[in-house]
Amino acid sequence: MGRVVGEPPDRSATRAGYDAIAEPYAATFRDELDRAPLDRAVLAAFAELVGPDAEVVDAGSGPGGVTAHLRDLGLRVRGVDLSPGMVALARREHPDLAFDVGDLADLDVTGLGGIVAWYSLIHVPPAQLPGVLAGFHRALRPGGQLLLGFQVGDDVSHHDEAFGHRVDLDFRRLRPDAVATLLAEAGFAVTARAVREPVAGSRAAALPQAFLMAQR
Ligand SMILES: C[S@@+](CC[C@H](N)C(=O)[O-])C[C@H]1O[C@@H](n2cnc3c(N)ncnc32)[C@H](O)[C@@H]1O
Repeated sequence: MGRVVGEPPDRSATRAGYDAIAEPYAATFRDELDRAPLDRAVLAAFAELVGPDAEVVDAGSGPGGVTAHLRDLGLRVRGVDLSPGMVALARREHPDLAFDVGDLADLDVTGLGGIVAWYSLIHVPPAQLPGVLAGFHRALRPGGQLLLGFQVGDDVSHHDEAFGHRVDLDFRRLRPDAVATLLAEAGFAVTARAVREPVAGSRAAALPQAFLMAQR
């Protein structure tokens, strides 16, 4: 799939990049949550706050491992991802779960009990972040929970190669305080912010990582 009419121009590069690397990305990071007790603790807290009755969207669900973990925690969760390759892979690996191709900037749903954006906002250009967070706010019901995970920093890491494939992917690091300010401006109450320091020897956790929780 190339450029979709009307979408921001960065999306086609992100989509093509993840389509190209879906299989090796999933193989590399499949067991990552097993090695990440703090991530599991944060996801468990989110699941407890949301509860089993509400609908939850994993926005930028990739291979679907986090989606499946949230389901195992008792949530009614489905995944949405920009990359059809990732969605096909997630459906194959988790046939009991629903995954759809879509843009986290345009969830086109209301009344959600929770949204997780786990390392997916890192691909959204900064100028678009306020609009994306406003969209999350609209998609949640009053009291609904938002959980964000992202690498901490000020820079953009551009990759034109990943897993042996040519890609055009930008990984944007973010500052938790800056994101918290944007969340407040979008109407959220920020309820928690945590930063995990880099984990030695971990490819997935080589940078500090932030977890932010907010409530509509
Ligand atoms: C670093 S991966 C993280 C995947 C998954 N959340 C995880 O933690 O395993 C980023 C994912 O976000 C998706 N993504 C990036 N921009 C997106 C957008 N605007 N809308 C939906 N998904 C997006 C990518 O296709 C990719 O699957």
